[in-house]
Amino acid sequence: MACIGRLDDKVALVTGASSGIGAGTAILFSQLGARVIITGRNEENLKKTAEQCSQDSKYKPVLLIGDLTKEEDTQRIVDEAIAAAGRLDILVNNAGIYYPSSIETSSLERFDKIINTNVRSVYHITMLCVPHLLKTKGNIVNVSSVAGQRALPNNLIYCMSKGALDQLTRCVALDLAPKQVRVNSVNPGLIDTNILRRAGMSEEESAKSMEQGKELHALGRVGEVSEVASTIAFLASDNASFITGNTVAVDGCFR
Ligand code: NAI
Repeated sequence: MACIGRLDDKVALVTGASSGIGAGTAILFSQLGARVIITGRNEENLKKTAEQCSQDSKYKPVLLIGDLTKEEDTQRIVDEAIAAAGRLDILVNNAGIYYPSSIETSSLERFDKIINTNVRSVYHITMLCVPHLLKTKGNIVNVSSVAGQRALPNNLIYCMSKGALDQLTRCVALDLAPKQVRVNSVNPGLIDTNILRRAGMSEEESAKSMEQGKELHALGRVGEVSEVASTIAFLASDNASFITGNTVAVDGCFR
């Protein structure tokens, strides 16, 4: 873990930390010395993440429950995070949803749901956190996707949402660079989490998609949460001090 870079005493807000990549990131950040503030909608699952964060940390994580597509929840989460920790060094915009969609099969309702979650809520929480990150010369890591960088079949709205997120990464990085705030993203390939089951797939369908997904990656497998979390931790650490505006593929050479 030494080459990832320590995060000792850094205050990190991780969204969507009740499962998958967000939970893995919060736990790794805690092991690296950070004081984590974890948000999610499911209190029970968030408590499970918190327990694991506490195991290897001198800090007790701060738990904040809320739906990031609700403006009042997002405002409250940022206010309570600052009230609890007094500062913010790192924002990890991980919360996101996936649904398949094409121009022929999708609805405006689905468009709004994906864009509101994957783009608008990220824009909102970033806007609220930036004044605090300016004070600490902190940094942001967005969790994007290979879908942000290329067209994928039956993935129209998700691809659009992650493409927008990549532009947010690059544009905010450029605007905040003179103020020494860094902004990067990780762009994972298929990672073994619950994301497909949340999109309505059965256990069986999700497992089948993960199996089929292996051949999309030159390494011949899907990725693990820990492989994304360690890249997020590196980008958030001082070891990445000259890296900003970057979209970093964590995708086993997706093709
Ligand atoms: P996941 O479904 O386990 O985690 C998503 C998290 O976001 C959950 O904790 C969920 O509660 C939270 N979330 C969703 N909508 C929210 C809302 N309105 N308010 C608050 N929290 C909300 O899935 P996973 O895979 O860990 O996804 C994390 C991120 O990684 C997402 O942004 C996803 O698009 C991205 N990603 C995932 C890939 C994969 O294959 N698993 C590949 C590429 C990117």
